[in-house]
Parts: sequence; structure tokens; C-alpha cells
Amino acid sequence: MKPEINLIDVEYLAKHGHPWDQYEWLRANAPVFWHEEENGPGFWAITKYVDLCAVSQNPKVFSSSVTGPLIQDRDPSFFFGKDSMVFAMDGPQHERYRKLLARGFTPETLAVLRPRIREIAIEILTEARQKGTGDFVSEIALRLPAGLIAEMMGMPRQELEHLTDLVPSRHANDDTVASPDEMMSSFMEQLTYGQSIAEIKHKSPENDLASFWVNSEVDGDRLTAEEFTWFFVFLLMEEGARVAMASGLQLLFDHPDQLKILMSDIDGHIETAVDEILRFSGPVPCFKRTAVEDVTMRGQNIKAGDSVMLFYASANRDEDIFENPNTFDITRNPNPHVTFGGFGPHECLGKHVARVEIAVMFKELLTMMPNITSNGEIERAKTNLVAAISYMPVKY
Ligand code: HEM
Repeated sequence: MKPEINLIDVEYLAKHGHPWDQYEWLRANAPVFWHEEENGPGFWAITKYVDLCAVSQNPKVFSSSVTGPLIQDRDPSFFFGKDSMVFAMDGPQHERYRKLLARGFTPETLAVLRPRIREIAIEILTEARQKGTGDFVSEIALRLPAGLIAEMMGMPRQELEHLTDLVPSRHANDDTVASPDEMMSSFMEQLTYGQSIAEIKHKSPENDLASFWVNSEVDGDRLTAEEFTWFFVFLLMEEGARVAMASGLQLLFDHPDQLKILMSDIDGHIETAVDEILRFSGPVPCFKRTAVEDVTMRGQNIKAGDSVMLFYASANRDEDIFENPNTFDITRNPNPHVTFGGFGPHECLGKHVARVEIAVMFKELLTMMPNITSNGEIERAKTNLVAAISYMPVKY
């Protein structure tokens, strides 16, 4: 039976998480589906793996810059970070910016970051453990990504924690945390802080990635202070890792057999476990493209100007790609999930860092707190920007 389709209903997402039954019905019956919107022009919902990859890999037809990659942004003349955010660019502008940023995401930089990520994780876990009980999201999952950005920027961890705490989707359930004006002023604070890092690291370079990004050249070209600043703000907004950590722990609580397998040989299973957590939980529900010419997909006529939404979590459960897609199997291998994008030019630049961050956190968590358990009902964020648990009581 056809379920009622509304893939972006924040009330539903806050109550149930991803609409798995709707995804399944769409994949089977209407994989390129015109999705009406209550307060918007509607969009094409792409729910199958091969289609999601085809759209992601065809930026000439499916643009990230015309109206941006976020569902909220529709006005072509203005959207958040227009012409400034790496994921909202196309063509040569995007290629150049991405090339300059990519120098910070090499195996060499990862090798330097890895032991520091571990040290930061142990510090954060030690502080949390002393309390005995607490909220896994605010006490651990939010803090490690902030610690990683601080490390990359060569700035104090407390300052970065303060700045990431101002990210709007963190407070989706809680109108009392900040008004739109306060959110805007916090965004200005993030921009100002990014500018000051660019200045400090330009004048007095140190041994950190920010100094490298601001000062080094590729083919006679380098990031401007403004480009660096927007990238800094992008990193603050990036929520995938904290979302995956909380969802991952919940999945392990819900699947004690899988937790047992992981505990039996953490080093042996952690890499496949992290990829399965990423596939199964789908931290980023969707990103958008805009068709720049008329195109036909699976018999549907997509018109120039139409929005096309890529539903990553649905593609990750595609029966044509994954055996037993609804089974959470931490030993799954191979696991070609599209959680970091559909292998196109916007594929996540931070995917290796994110994997290490999540793996290190779970390894240290399960080693230091092997008896961690749930301590009450979770709450989910009322947003369609991320599929996030916003509150998760645990006993450490
Ligand atoms: C589990 C964690 C993460 C998930 C699920 C995730 C997911 C994604 C996805 C789906 C995209 C593609 C956007 C598009 O196609 O429009 C993306 C892009 C990007 N991500 Fe991530 N991400 C994660 C962590 C990170 C981290 C830790 C960093 C940096 C330290 C990062 C940096 C980036 C950058 C720079 C882009 C833009 C690439 C471009 O437009 O060329 N991500 N991410």
C-alpha cells in the first residue's frame, strides 16, 4: 500500500527518524518522484542508488550553484553562502577552490591528525566518565568534532566549542536557545573569528593546517582570507560526524549481537563497523541539485529550473546494490555506501578524517566504558538538514 509521502516533514523526522517505508515504496514504484511541498515549489525525489550517483556525477546538467545544495535555499539570487561555500559552486570555480582545500586532506595530514584525535577523544571521554551519567550528544559527540576543528585551526578547543555550539540545527528543538537575530549575530561571530584566524596565521604561521591553507600556493594560486573564512564557517556547520556518533551508539544499543561482535575484536571490526553505521544511519538526509536543462530520467521529464533532491539514506538501503539492506551488519564488506555523496565532484572532502574520528571515538569509548548503556528516551532534532539524535541519556 502506498504510504503518504512527505520525505521532509520535520515533525515526522523528529518523531520517527528517516521515513524508511516511504523510501522503500518510492524505490520500488516511483524512483524519480515529483514531491509536492506545502510551502514550496516541489522537487524531484531521487531514491535509488544508480540514479543518485548519475545525478551527482553530472554537474553540467545538475547544478550545485544555481540555488545551492540545501533544501531551504531556493531563491537563485540569494541563498546562504552563495558564491562562497565550496558545496554551492560549480565548474572551474569549484575545481579551483576544492583543489586548494584538498591539500589539507591528504594521507600525510591524516597521519598527523590521527594521534591528536585520539588524545582529544580520551580527554573528552575521561571528563564524561567522571560524571557517571549524562547526555552522550552534548558531552561527547558534539565535542570531538569541535576538538578536531580546533586542532586543524591551531586554536583553543574551548573557543571552537563555543562557536560550534551556535550552529542553528543543533537547536532545532529548542526555541529558547536563540532567536533568529541571535543566530545571525552568532553567524557573524563565526565569520569574524574565521577572519581573525586567517590574519593571525598569515602573520605568524605555525605548524597547523590553517597556516598551511592560508600561506601555501598551488601553481601560483592560494586561498584568499575570505575563501579561508567561508571554509572555516563550512567546517563549523558540518554536522555529519557528531550525528553519526550518536546514531552509531544507538544502533549498537539496539543490536546487542553486533555490539558483542565488535567488543570481541574492536581493532579487527572497527573499520567495517564505522562504514555500516554510516550506511545504516544516513546522517545527511538529502542534498539538492537544480536542473539547468530539460532532461528525462526513468521516463520522467525534469524541466530546467526544477529542484532535484538526492536521498542518500534511501540509496544506502537499495535492494539492487546491498544484500539484506535492512540488516545492520558491522562486518559488511564491501560496503559502497553513498553517505559521503554519489562519487561526483562534490564527494565529501573530509570522508577519511570523519571515518578516523568516528572509529577512534568508538574504539576509546568501548575500551574505557565497556558497560555504557542507555539511560532513558532519546530525542531527535526537528530538522531535515541532518538526521540527528539531539539528546541521548546514557550511563557511562
Ligand atoms: C560522517 C560525517 C560526514 C558526512 C556524512 C558528510 C557528508 C557529506 C556529503 C554528502 C557531501 C556532498 C555534498 C554534495 O554533494 O552536495 C559532503 C561534502 C563535503 N564535506 Fe562532508 N561529511 C562528513 C564529514 C566531513 C568532515 C569531518 C569534513 C571536514 C573536516 C567534511 C568536509 C566536506 C567538504 C569540504 C565538502 C564539500 C566538497 C565539495 O563541495 O567539493 N565533511 N560531505
